[in-house]
Amino acid sequence: MKDIATDSATDAAATGSGMGTGMGTGTGTAPPFYLPVGDECAVFAAAHANRLPLLLKGPTGCGKTRFVVHMAARLGRPLHTVACHDDLSAADLIGRYLLKGGETVWMDGPLTRAVREGAICYLDEVVEARKDVTVVLHPLTDDRRILPIDRTGEEIPAAAGFMLVASYNPGYQNLLKTLKPSTRQRFVAIEFGFPPEAREVQIVSAESGLDEERARLLVRLATKIRALKGQDIEEGASTRLLVYCATLIREGMAMERAISVAIVEPLTDDADTRRGLHDLVAAVCG
Ligand SMILES: Nc1ncnc2c1ncn2[C@@H]1O[C@H](COP(=O)(O)OP(=O)(O)OP(=O)(O)O)[C@@H](O)[C@H]1O
Ligand SMILES: [Mg+2]
Repeated sequence: MKDIATDSATDAAATGSGMGTGMGTGTGTAPPFYLPVGDECAVFAAAHANRLPLLLKGPTGCGKTRFVVHMAARLGRPLHTVACHDDLSAADLIGRYLLKGGETVWMDGPLTRAVREGAICYLDEVVEARKDVTVVLHPLTDDRRILPIDRTGEEIPAAAGFMLVASYNPGYQNLLKTLKPSTRQRFVAIEFGFPPEAREVQIVSAESGLDEERARLLVRLATKIRALKGQDIEEGASTRLLVYCATLIREGMAMERAISVAIVEPLTDDADTRRGLHDLVAAVCG
């Protein structure tokens, strides 16, 4: 039987990327630090209050995941995160029958758990998911708000507080990996970019403990590197990389070395591009 897994197989999937995991942000947890860039917190709260699903678009390391974890904690909702990939099946989200001590028992997947609990379900990199997965989302993301489970014959209405949040990076999209209009048009969407310089300085400094003066230098460097996107590098230096770099400097690493290991090397393997980036670093950081 195709959809009956053994206990151990599903446990393995649950700890890997397959079944997704709760992120431990249950009710009562203090929200992690998130510095808003615009009105995104108000949009999230309004979408949640009005039972609308939300799509977050933006480059890697710009704060999408942090934002969702922060908002889930602020709204007091548990969070179930699923990292989507092209092997993720609808059963990984919804659930499957398990063989347990000779008996067959149904085990909810992360989406079903969130629907029953009134939690927030976060589908990270949703464009990677197979088409059969996105179709499962349709009755949940329009005004029906139900999750039909073919295998058990159940049709579960989403509990109050349930919200579906999905994210993806439009920069990596190819024609085969786009969301169908019928899926996209079920979501309210926010575009994320890198924060304005002054904000990003605050974020990098707060996250790493590095003083704002040196954080400002890193942000200025990142702005210059981001301007090269599409020419020599696929993506600009993310806020995440700046936080890594600032953390190493705060720990005592020389600035030049920290920039090399936390910004230049992660960005490219190409020797010429690396040289060009090092020249840029020298020009900005002196
Ligand atoms: N507005 C912000 N407030 C606080 N921290 C931020 C903010 N934006 C970015 N960060 C920092 O940047 C790091 C990376 O952000 P995050 O993991 O949320 O990126 P992401 O957009 O989910 O990236 P990916 O698409 O690769 O998953 C965070 O761990 C945090 O340190
Ligand atoms: Mg993320």
